[in-house]
Amino acid sequence: MSEVSRARRTALVTGATGGIGEAVARSLANDGFRVFVGGRRVAALNRLAEEVGGEAVPFDVAKEDEVEWARAVVKDPLDVIVNAAGVFGLAAVTDTDAAMLERNLRANLVGAVNVTRAFLPGMLATGSGLVINVGSVAGWRAFPENAAYSASKFALRGFHEVLLEELRGTGVRACLLEPGAVDTPIWDPIDPDAAPHLPDRALMLRPDDVARAVGFVAGLSPTVTVPLLRIERA
Ligand SMILES: NC(=O)c1ccc[n+]([C@@H]2O[C@H](COP(=O)([O-])OP(=O)(O)OC[C@H]3O[C@@H](n4cnc5c(N)ncnc54)[C@H](OP(=O)(O)O)[C@@H]3O)[C@@H](O)[C@H]2O)c1
Repeated sequence: MSEVSRARRTALVTGATGGIGEAVARSLANDGFRVFVGGRRVAALNRLAEEVGGEAVPFDVAKEDEVEWARAVVKDPLDVIVNAAGVFGLAAVTDTDAAMLERNLRANLVGAVNVTRAFLPGMLATGSGLVINVGSVAGWRAFPENAAYSASKFALRGFHEVLLEELRGTGVRACLLEPGAVDTPIWDPIDPDAAPHLPDRALMLRPDDVARAVGFVAGLSPTVTVPLLRIERA
């Protein structure tokens, strides 16, 4: 790769039509990355791509054929992948049916695996790159009514830890970023301010807090790895 093409690093951010992904996409673009933004809502994606001078890649992370299409659209190799696409919902164990479990596993686990599998070979070929998996505090702590979500985020952590082992010595790095609650549209259907056992939105992390953490990890020397980063409201 020439010095000219090295100068502009490339990143793919999934979930870029959402709170965290959008903030990450904007912040990486500000840091000089050429950003590919992923999501399913095409109009929102196009708007964001235009604003950040990036490229919209509309695809469903849970669908292998669409992920394969995205890989063909994005020219390998990427420097950074941020797996931020995800869903959330609350239900007691007695109300957690197979459909809810599947919905969470497909978006939060299968999606990250699909995207990583599609783009990792390009990174391995260059011996560099960074995969940031957005986990959650619910991926290491249990909260009531989080059965499906927590199962998917604990599973993501399992996937991530295997990934770390396989990446050892390859030059490719991976980081599991586990934020506490963040004030994003993911909470809109729940209205946490009306539920005493949930954090108030005003007391949650901001999407920019997570974006800064991503920028920190992505800005480190390629000789430094941050396998796990938990961020919480102080
Ligand atoms: N907010 C929190 O409190 C919090 C805390 C810890 C971790 N997280 C994690 O952070 C990530 C982002 O969450 P957020 O709070 O930013 O949520 P959000 O505002 O609801 O955004 C979710 C994003 O994921 C995308 N998405 C969902 N399913 C998808 C699929 N199958 N294929 C492609 N894109 C998909 C949505 O895009 P489209 O609708 O356009 O497809 C949207 O861009 C999630 O993994 C979440 O679990 C959130």
